[in-house]
Parts: sequence; C-alpha cells; structure tokens
Amino acid sequence: MSDAVSDVRGGLEEARAEGLNKIEAAADLAALEEAQIRVLGRKAPLARARSSLKDVGAEDRKALGMLANEVQSSIQDALDRKRETFEAHELEQRWATERVDVTLPGEAPPVGSIHPLTRTIWEIVDVFIGMGYRLYEGPEVELSTYSFDALRTPKEHPSRSPSDTFYIEGKGDAVGLRSHTSPVQIRTLETEEPPVYGVMPGRCYRRDEQDATHLAGFTQLEGLAVDEGITMGDLKGSLLEFARTMFGRDLDVRLRPHFFPFTEPSAEMDVQCFICRGDGCRVCKQEGWIEILGCGMVHPFLLEWVGWDTEKYTGFAFGMGVERVAALAHGVPDIRYFWENDLRMLTQFRGPA
Ligand code: DAH
Repeated sequence: MSDAVSDVRGGLEEARAEGLNKIEAAADLAALEEAQIRVLGRKAPLARARSSLKDVGAEDRKALGMLANEVQSSIQDALDRKRETFEAHELEQRWATERVDVTLPGEAPPVGSIHPLTRTIWEIVDVFIGMGYRLYEGPEVELSTYSFDALRTPKEHPSRSPSDTFYIEGKGDAVGLRSHTSPVQIRTLETEEPPVYGVMPGRCYRRDEQDATHLAGFTQLEGLAVDEGITMGDLKGSLLEFARTMFGRDLDVRLRPHFFPFTEPSAEMDVQCFICRGDGCRVCKQEGWIEILGCGMVHPFLLEWVGWDTEKYTGFAFGMGVERVAALAHGVPDIRYFWENDLRMLTQFRGPA
C-alpha cells in the first residue's frame, strides 16, 4: 500500500472518530447543529480527507471513495439519531410543561352590569311607559324660579333656606342644586302642549346629615299627568298599578292626607308591607304599611304659571325616592350602600339588562 493511500485511509478514519466524538459530546440541539458544521462542513476533517483523494492513483481511488462515502453516512446517521433523541426529549418536555387541562373552568373576564339604581329607574319608568307616559329630564343645577316659585313654595319656606338647599356661589339664592325633581314638572308643562303624561327621574341634592335613609345626593322620580277630566281616582288607580307591579300584585295601597305646596289635595301613599302584609314587622317598623311616595292633584297655580286653561285641565303628580324604592324592593337595609361602589354589593344585582 502506498503512503498516499494509507494517509487518506488514516485521514478518513480519523475524521470518522473525531466526528462521532463531537456528535457524542453535543449536549443539546444547538450544540448538535454546531457539531454538524464542524464534522460535515467544507473545512471539516472529512472534507479535507476527501480532497486528498486526488493524490492517490486511479486504481485505489474507487475503494477510498467508497470508504469516504461510508464514513460520511456513518457520521450522518449518528447526527440523525442524536437529533431524533433530542427532538423526542424536547417534545416530551413541552408535553409536560404546556399541557392544558381543558376540563378546568375558564377564567371569566370581569363583566360590568347595570347599577341597581339605574335598573330601578328603568323598572319604574317601564311601568309608566306601559301606561302611555313619556320620559322627561331637567337640569340638576336649577333656577329657584323652577325649584320653588313656580311650585308655589313661599320665600320663607324652610326648604328654600341655605341650610337645606345648596346654592351656587355668586348667584345668591337664585340658582341652586335642585332638592327635588318637581321643577321638571314646570319645564315639561312649559315645553309641551296638553295633554302631558310624563315621568322624570334624576339626581337631587339636599344639605342633609347622611344616614341609613338620607343622602346629600340622591335620586327621585317625578310623575305628572295633566289632561281633561283627570281625577283623584286616576291618581289612585295609576299609583296602585305601579305599586303592585313593583312590590307585589296582591298588595293594597292607602293614601294619607298630607301637605305639599304644589298639590291640592295632597297625600302620601303607603303600600302594604310586602313582608308581613299588614301584621307589623321589622321592615315596616310595626306599622304594617310602608310610605313610598308623595302625591296630589296638581295645584291650578302651576297650570296658570304656564298659561294652561285651569277650567279645562286638571292633573295629578307624584314624587318618590328611587333609593328608597330600590332598598325596599331588594331588602337593602341602608341606602348608602347604593353609593359606595362596593362590588360585593353591586354584583348581587347582576342580571339581564
Ligand atoms: N317634591 C316632593 C319632595 O321632594 C315629593 C312630591 C310630593 C312630588 C308630591 C310630587 C307630589 O310630585 O305631587 O318631597
């Protein structure tokens, strides 16, 4: 055997041994890729040994060429086997770490809901919309003309005093935060032609000490019906229908004489306690009845104020506290809860909008 032949043969065997060693030493896929370049690349020992094939005679070249091919495929096989092992291992790890248990409950994204007071307003408004009423709104910052004068409330009335009503700085007692929704009665009468059937929800403000039944900022809902031939019977029938829809079909209502400057006669309406049905309990404070609103026949003074014919038109009006209605309907013991934005409270009122 010539020296050249044994040199090539030795180079090839060395390339095989070194190649297999490098492959064996690779600890992960990245290292294996690098080893592949070093053992099969253009500058690898195998490539060098192949290029020395030209130094041997033609009679030996064929056998050495076959040996070179055999070395190459043994290296390639070793690479492939090792790659398969790594890939299988990697897949196994991904199975372990990325496994998803599709039977676990999903993470529900937080979903908002309608505030219980808004919901209560919608419920009350719905009852009256069903009786042909329309929805009206008025400003929360209101002229005393609308809040008091047009409502027949004299200058010396305690509700007008700055210790009861918030006035706007620089406007004396001419402009303030409305203390009830009744001024919307006047605004509606002013802008509409007779007849008028309207409900008017909105925010009101009073300089009140806050407790379980009083808030400095609260919500009222006003109602007004003015038409030809409206009587107190219409008032009672309409409000009975409202109370039964809201609190229970089999409940009775009663009217107690009262005084409001803008109605004559005036009354407060009680609904039979829906817990004890009249026997007396904690909810109705042993009364058997629960006061839910103020009402009365629209005083002709209001109709004259807006220039409506008081011989032709009569009407009734009512006003209720929305927090109070909501608290009664849902058994909420303190109306401040409606304004604390506590999700433990608010999420209890979730439901279809
Ligand atoms: N505005 C009255 C209040 O805040 C409630 C009220 C009473 C409204 C009688 C009315 C009514 O429309 O007729 O106390």
